[in-house]
Amino acid sequence: MALFKLRSAVKREPVVATVPRHIAIVMDGNGRWAKKRFMPRVFGHKHGVDALVRTVKASADRGVEYLTVFAFSSENWKRPQEEVSGLMGLALATVANHLAKMTTEGVRIRIVGDLSTVSDKVRAALAQAEAATAHNTRIHLTVAFNYGGRWDVLQACRRAIEAGVAADQLDEARLAQFMALKHAPDPDLFIRTGGELRVSNFLLWQIAYSELHFTDCLWPDFGEAELDAALVAYAGRERRFGGVEAAEPAAAADALTTSGS
Ligand code: IPE
Ligand code: IPE
Ligand code: MG
Repeated sequence: MALFKLRSAVKREPVVATVPRHIAIVMDGNGRWAKKRFMPRVFGHKHGVDALVRTVKASADRGVEYLTVFAFSSENWKRPQEEVSGLMGLALATVANHLAKMTTEGVRIRIVGDLSTVSDKVRAALAQAEAATAHNTRIHLTVAFNYGGRWDVLQACRRAIEAGVAADQLDEARLAQFMALKHAPDPDLFIRTGGELRVSNFLLWQIAYSELHFTDCLWPDFGEAELDAALVAYAGRERRFGGVEAAEPAAAADALTTSGS
């Protein structure tokens, strides 16, 4: 289990904390961040990409093995066409501008979500990001794009049926092999920025026992300090996984875990 020293914002002294293996983040608040600056919403999304790049690096530096971020939800198509196309353009620009650095920094990128309805161009760029980083192992960055937690459960059921899994053979572990995050342990820590206290159809199956951390920080302002605050909060949690005593996350998660590795 990774240990590292965090400087507590409150006590101003180093504390040794347990680092979550897997952090999932709902990167929310870009639009409000832009509005405060009298700028279009897409301006906030652009700065949101910078926050993501910072957070990937900070997470890897702290020994986080898996980072899963919500970039575009299955419901975000409801937004004005201008914003949706701005977000698609930003996906292309992000691959063009940041892929080389991510590749050399050891980031392994995976995209999860229903890519059947995104344009060929965006699908190709996302596939390029996966292929270019497929050999990397320092940190696994999973980007949820046109993703919904309900879609994920449904697509897993469909694929299990297609694979010929008999009803009496289907259990949680077997179904998890068809879920989008089959390559990762379940998230230990779920962070949502932007102040809303909801999950908004992000990882529904996988966050059954995740620790939840909500912050008013708008996503473009997120960085090392906010990440450390979340890690300090996480380190103070007692995870019981339904038992009575605090459990070693690794052991308890093994008993519970629905995902691979
Ligand atoms: C999250 O920021 C990013 C995406 C949904 C793509 P928002 O765009 O939802 O920002 P707010 O919540 O309106 O401030
Ligand atoms: C969740 O944020 C989706 C992403 C961050 C990509 P939303 O802004 O879409 O969620 P709601 O509409 O506030 O629930
Ligand atoms: Mg929002």
